[in-house]
Amino acid sequence: MTDTADDLIERKMLDDLYADFEDAGLIPLWTQLDGLMPATPQSAAVPHLWRWERLLPTAERSGRLVPVGRGGERRAMALSNPGLPGLPYATPTLWAAIQYLGPREVAPSHRHSQGAFRFVLDGEDVWKNVDGDAVAMRRGDLLLTPSWAFHEHQNVTDEPMTWIDGLDIPLVAQLDAGFFEFGPDELSTTATPERSRAERLWAHPGLRPISRPDRPNSPLAAYRWEHTDAALTAQLELEVEGIAGVLEPGHAGVRFSNPTTGKDALVTIRTEMRRLRAGTRTTPLRSVGSAAVWCRPTPWRTRSRRAEHPPGRSGTGRPLDPRCPPPRCSVAYSGACI
Ligand SMILES: [Fe+2]
Repeated sequence: MTDTADDLIERKMLDDLYADFEDAGLIPLWTQLDGLMPATPQSAAVPHLWRWERLLPTAERSGRLVPVGRGGERRAMALSNPGLPGLPYATPTLWAAIQYLGPREVAPSHRHSQGAFRFVLDGEDVWKNVDGDAVAMRRGDLLLTPSWAFHEHQNVTDEPMTWIDGLDIPLVAQLDAGFFEFGPDELSTTATPERSRAERLWAHPGLRPISRPDRPNSPLAAYRWEHTDAALTAQLELEVEGIAGVLEPGHAGVRFSNPTTGKDALVTIRTEMRRLRAGTRTTPLRSVGSAAVWCRPTPWRTRSRRAEHPPGRSGTGRPLDPRCPPPRCSVAYSGACI
C-alpha cells in the first residue's frame, strides 16, 4: 500500500514538530516514558565480589609507592562496580574504598559536603581529628565524619592502618551538592586521648546530655568494637535462652544509631553489623537500597590486636571480601562465624 498525499503531509508535519522540539530544547514524555518511569528499577550496577587477597597487597604496594599529601589527600582505592565502568562507585549511590595510612603518616585536613564513615580493618593508634576532636581509631571501630566536618588523620606508630571508607559521593553528585574545602596544613591537634570529647559527652548507654539539641547526623564520633561485639554476642546468647532479640534464628544484627534521634547514625548511609551463627542461612531480601557488604569468616576478639597479631604481621589474616549487591538484587548470606 502506498502513502497517500495526506499521509506524506502528516509525516512531514510530525518530522517538523520533532525537529522543533530539538531546536527548542524539549523532549516529549511519550518518547521517554519507559526510561524515565520503568515498571521496576533498572540499575546499571551489577553484583560483584572483590577478593581481599588482591585488595590488601594492592593497598600495601600503594603505601610504598604513593605518598599521602595535599592534593591527592588520601590513599583510598575505591571499589568500581563493573556495571558502572570508569566510575569509582561501588553502587549507584555508594562510594566504598579501602584506605591505607602508613607508619607515621599524616593525611591532611579538609572537609566536604559528602558524609562518611570509616570502619577499621587493621591497626591501632591512629587518631582522626574531627573539627579538632581527636578520635582514636582501632580495629573493629565504626567512626563517623559527618558532612562538612574538618577531618585529618595521624598515625603515631610504626605500623600501618587499613580501613573501609564509606561515603555518599555518588548520591551527592546526583544532587549537584558537592562542596569541598582544604583545611589548615598543620594538624588541628596532636593529642592522642583514649576517649574523644564526643565520646565523653555522648557515649553513655541510654543517656544524652539534656543541653544538646537533636542533630540529623550522630554527634557520637566513634562506635567501639567492644560494644558492637558485646551486643551481637548477647543476641545470640539470649536466643539460646529463648529470649527474643535476633533478627531470625542464628542471625544477630545491630544498627549504628544517632543518640539524639534513635534513627540512623548518618542520614544518607545506613550502617549495620550482623553476625551469623555457623550454618545459618538468612532469608533472601530485596531492597531498592544498594549495599556494600564486608564479610569476615570469624569475628574479632575484643582484645588488643597487638596480643592477637604481633607487630609486623597482618591483623587481617582472614579475608574481608567486600561485595556490592545493587538495587533490587535478592541477597542472602550463609553463616560461618561461631
Ligand atoms: Fe575526607
